[in-house]
Order: sequence, then C-alpha cells, then structure tokens
Amino acid sequence: MPRKLFVTTALPYANGSFHIGHIMEYIQADIWVRFQRMQGHEVHFMGADDAHGAPIMLKAEAEGLAPRELVARIAAERPKYLQGFHISFDNWHTTDSPENVALSQDIYRKLKAAGLVYTKRIEQFYDPVKGMFLADRYIKGECPNCGAKDQYGDACENCSSVYSATELKNPRSTLSGAAPVLKSSEHHFFKLSDAKCQSFLRIWIDTPGRLQPQVANKAKEWLEGTGDKALSDWDISRDPPYFGIRIPDIAEEKYLYVWLDAPIGYLASFKNYCAKRGLGFEAFLADPAAEQIHFIGKDIIYFHTLFWPAMLRFAGAPYKVPDHVYVHGFITVSGDKMSKSRGTGISPLRYLELGMNPEWLRYYIAAKLNAHVEDLDFNPDDFLARVNSDLIGKYVNIASRCAVFLGRKFDGVLAATEHRLLAEAQAKSNTVAELYEQREFGKALREVMALADLANQFVDEQKPWELSKQAGAERGLHEVCSVAINLFRLLTVYLKPVLPKLAEDAERFLGIAPLQWADSAQLLPSGHRIHEYRHLLTRVEEQQLDRLFDTASVPQASAPQRHAEKQQHASQHAAKEQLVTPEITIEDFAKLDLRVAKIVHAETVEGADKLVKLTLDLGGPTRTVFAGIKSAYALQALEGKLAVLVANLAPRKMKFGLSEGMILAASGESPGDGPGIFLISPDAGAQPGMRVK
Ligand code: MSP
Ligand code: ZN
Repeated sequence: MPRKLFVTTALPYANGSFHIGHIMEYIQADIWVRFQRMQGHEVHFMGADDAHGAPIMLKAEAEGLAPRELVARIAAERPKYLQGFHISFDNWHTTDSPENVALSQDIYRKLKAAGLVYTKRIEQFYDPVKGMFLADRYIKGECPNCGAKDQYGDACENCSSVYSATELKNPRSTLSGAAPVLKSSEHHFFKLSDAKCQSFLRIWIDTPGRLQPQVANKAKEWLEGTGDKALSDWDISRDPPYFGIRIPDIAEEKYLYVWLDAPIGYLASFKNYCAKRGLGFEAFLADPAAEQIHFIGKDIIYFHTLFWPAMLRFAGAPYKVPDHVYVHGFITVSGDKMSKSRGTGISPLRYLELGMNPEWLRYYIAAKLNAHVEDLDFNPDDFLARVNSDLIGKYVNIASRCAVFLGRKFDGVLAATEHRLLAEAQAKSNTVAELYEQREFGKALREVMALADLANQFVDEQKPWELSKQAGAERGLHEVCSVAINLFRLLTVYLKPVLPKLAEDAERFLGIAPLQWADSAQLLPSGHRIHEYRHLLTRVEEQQLDRLFDTASVPQASAPQRHAEKQQHASQHAAKEQLVTPEITIEDFAKLDLRVAKIVHAETVEGADKLVKLTLDLGGPTRTVFAGIKSAYALQALEGKLAVLVANLAPRKMKFGLSEGMILAASGESPGDGPGIFLISPDAGAQPGMRVK
C-alpha cells in the first residue's frame, strides 16, 4: 500500500537569506522525501517563508521598506538556493498569505469555541518613544542577581539566572534607548495547562515511534514540570504595531503571535498546493492513512511537540495531529557553532557561485547524519577526503574503469551476468531502505560504500585492462565489465535519494528509465546497450575550499585554524584519499620509456578523419606514429614541434601502417570536458632523444 505523506521543514524567517543550517535541514528532509518517492509513495513536500513577527517588522523599518517588501525580496532569492541544492519541494509558500489568514483565524476560533482561549490583562514593558510593547530581547539592563551590565530581559549571560524583564535594574529599550514604562493591555492565552491538553499530549508524546526517544523525554519533562517549571498558558496575542494576522471577531486591533500562525503556514502551503493541483486538502487530512511529518531543528522542539499538536487536536476537524516530528541537531563549521545572528561559516550561495557541486555537500551531510539529535560538523579537509574517496574513488570509479572496454570491444552491449556479488548487492536493498526510512543516512551510505569496495576489489582482481589485451579472453572481459556495470547500477539505486542529479546522469549513461527502489530486484539483461561513458563527477579541489572560506564574513574558519586542523587530519586524509586509477609503484612508472621527440614531418592519412601520420626524430633513429590529433592541429603547425613519445609501447599494426609508439596529449574524457586536444611538449632546449622521467 502506498503511503500518503505530507512532509514539511521548519519555515525559515523571511528576514534573511538561507544559511547552511537551513540547507542542511532541507537536504535531510529532501533525501528522505526522495527515498519515499522512489518507493512509490505519494509525497507532498511543503515549504514556506515565515513572514510575520516583530524582528521582520523592525528590520524592514530599518531598511526603509514595508515588511511585505522585505519579505518579497527574500522570497525572490529562495529558488536559486533550493534548485541549486536539488531540494525538491513540491510547493513554497508564505505565512503572509490568504490561506494562512483563513486557516489561522479558523483555528483560533475553534480553540476559543473549545474553551481553550481566555483573555487577561497583563503589564509589560512599553517603549514610550517607539510606541510599542517590548519583547524581552529588546530590553537590556543590569542583572537583578549579580548586577552584570547589559543583560537581556530574560536571562543573565554572566550568572545564568533567569528572571522577568521587569526585574532588571536600569532597564533600557534597545530600540530607542528610552527607559521602558510598564503598561497594561489585554492578552489572549491558549490554555495549555488545561487537563484535557495535558492528557492528550501525554498520549501523543508517548505514542511509540512518533518522536525520537530524546525528544519525547524532553517534551515530557516540560509537560510534567511542577512548581515554577509547571507548563504555563501561552500568550498568543500581540498589540500593534505588529506584522501579523488579526485576531478575528474582536473590536480591538490585536494580532496573533507569530509562533501561532507560523506552523499553520505548513497547512497554508499545502492548501495552496492542493488548490493548484486540484487535490482535496480536507480530504487528504481526513484520510486516516495520511501521515503528517515535520522535520525541524532542536531549537524549536517546544513549539512542535506541545503547542502545535495541542492546537491541532483541539481545533478538531479538518485538522489532524502530526504523526512524526523528526528533530536534527545543528551543523557547526570546523567545530564552531554558528549563531543565528552572526550568520554562518559557510555561505551556501558562495558555495554555488564558486561552481562547487551541490551533490558533494548532499553526500557529505548525508554521510554524517543519523536519526539522533546530534550536531554535525562540517570540516573542510574531511569533506574533501570523504567526497573524493567515496564518490570518485569508489562509486564513479566502477563505471569509469569498465565502460570503456564495453564501448570499445562490445559496442556497449552487455553480456549475461550472474555473480555472487550481484546477489549480495541486491540482497542489501531492504537493509539500505530501512536505514533511509529511519533517517540513518550515514549507516545507509556505509552499507553502500562497502558494496562499492567489493565491486572495486572485483575489478582489481579481474583486471579487465589485462583481459582486454589477452587473446581469447574476450568472453571473460565481457562478463567482468557487465557484472561491474550492473553493480554500478545497483549502487546508483541506493545512492539516488542523496545524489539525484548524478543518478540522472548515470541513468542516461546506462540507457535506462529513472530508477525506482524496486529496480534493485532486477539486473540489466544481456543485450542491453549502454551509452558512451562520460565523466560523471569531478573531484573536490583544495583551492575550492580555500575560496569557500576566504570571505571577510567568515570568522570561524581562519587560515591558521584551518591549517592546524589540516595537520590533525593529515594522516586520516592520506588513508582516505584515493585516486581514480589504481595506484602504481615507482617501478611501474619506470617501465615507461618516455622520450623527447621532434616532429619532422606530418601528413594526412587517407580514409582516417582523426589521424595524422607523424615522422619523429629521436636524435638519430626516426619513428612513424599515427596520432589522433587531426581535429586540433594544422599539419604545418606540427612540423618542428617537440613532443613526448612513449618509446617502448608495443608497435601496433593499423589499417594504414605500423604505429611505433604514441605521443602524449591532454584532453578531457569527453567533448563536454573542454576544448580539444593539447600536445604535451617539452620546454625549448630539450633535445630529441632525451629521456623524460
Ligand atoms: N521561523 C522559525 C520556524 C517556524 S516553523 C513553523 C525558525 N526559523 S529559523 O530560520 O530560525 O530556523 C529554521 C530552521 O533552521 C529550524 O528548524 C532551525 O532549527 C534550523 N536551523 C537553524 N540553524 C541551524 C543550524 N546551525 N543547523 C541546523 N539547523 C539549523 O526557527
Ligand atoms: Zn547575573
């Protein structure tokens, strides 16, 4: 039975660009969502901007904009990031939308009708100059406990005591500098302390599998608190000026607190999407099989495990309570916490603008993620080593080592395959699927890389490059390469949730339809034809990371710090780093007899559109070599040039004559890699016949 999934990520405040923490959350959710889609489930993946609240209002004001103008500017840059990192939201909306106004007011009314909203006059600090009530973060003063200066209105950073703003000595408004005055106004409260809320939440939190154990414990701790830790009712109204949604049915101008309308934004985005797609929003929520799942960070557990389920439960139909809230830890950069205000150690936009591959980051983050609420560190050296070693050295390597022979010798057509390794790789399908389902992405990828290791070992042992030269080994070569390509295809299935673009390129190369999870049950049949192999992925270069961190706004990853880490990681680094082709020894290299050769004559070859026939001077003897460089060089330009000859290469009989060696040239592996062919030539002064080593 296909599942019906409504999945969200936390709605980012619309007063700033995405930072790496947001991207990390989206990558986690996106991998899970893509995995579910590959399973054939119905998934609706919703995002939106969290547009309301005092900070956005104040920031807009500081920039001389209306709040909506600021929000629109931020909203306009979202797609660049989301597309850039292959985040596959089905819809992106905003809490500042007609859907959200209607839903929020509806939920407010229903909670009120359920007897869970009451009003009470409270006294709060008010800035007489600015003409607004002040949240704790806009008040500073001296700590009532230790006297430390410049402390915020809720807690002291010096002695950690917690107090209310009215207890501060010499309080000041951070907005105007004025001394705040106490002023009373009527506030609306949500009665979280109500016995029916408590007994509902107890059951909701304890439902097995709903929350991570760590999260459930935290929620219960809050729920069961007594004395001054007792769960208090929730102040859900704000006085003007405020950028938010009006509280309905009252004469006075009051607004819903942003944290009330923000999670309702999940529903607003879904409703907006349903309308566009002709889907039944209410019917979906009413379906007992439907699942509502929220991915969030550890800092907003309180809102998502207490207020939000209680709001939904007591608002009643058509709303349903969340089935799961999946909480992740924070991403740090080289061990440094990033702060919401200070920004981040890595700018996701810079990452993209530098042309760094988004799938490197997806892979790296996935490899470090598990199902627990654990922080995750981005370490540049570890990033480079992990991506190059796993993706290039292991996964892509399998295809690049074998595809050439299939193309060259068998016209890309696969042989029938049967091998223990294939069965082994197929048998992992359920294990890997279960790990994705559990959000144990790191474990899933370790399973996949273990298979990749086996595949590479197999290729190492079978040595297709040797088989290709042995007479009578054709069949063996064909089988080895076909097994390897099938292994590559199975790994592609397992990696696809993490690497959607790379998987798409691999599918094109393999000549197959988009892979679904169930495709791991089959193999490519004999007779199937694959396409010419093209480079699937480039390596991470050290300089790219240097440039990524080389910004003034990045205090976290200073050069000396990175250097120190580099020392630490050097050994680990060496172990992880792997080259695309198997390692060789100096003895292996010494087997090559490379010589400086002077091209004395170049001529065309009748009937060959790529070849030129070269006569080479080796400081005495001459050699004839056919080289595939016709497209890149005019004949006259070649004559007189120095080149490097592989002098001890076995002569090869060609249709046009005997080729006595090979000259070296650089080129991409495919036309897409760059322009043409470049002869390697020694610097001026080198003499024909000199050894190159
Ligand atoms: N607007 C609220 C959420 C409302 S949900 C109805 C909010 N916005 S936020 O922009 O501050 O954070 C959005 C998400 O990013 C949250 O899940 C938060 O935990 C996550 N992260 C913020 N910093 C992060 C890291 N450094 N690492 C990982 N995730 C982080 O809170
Ligand atoms: Zn103090």
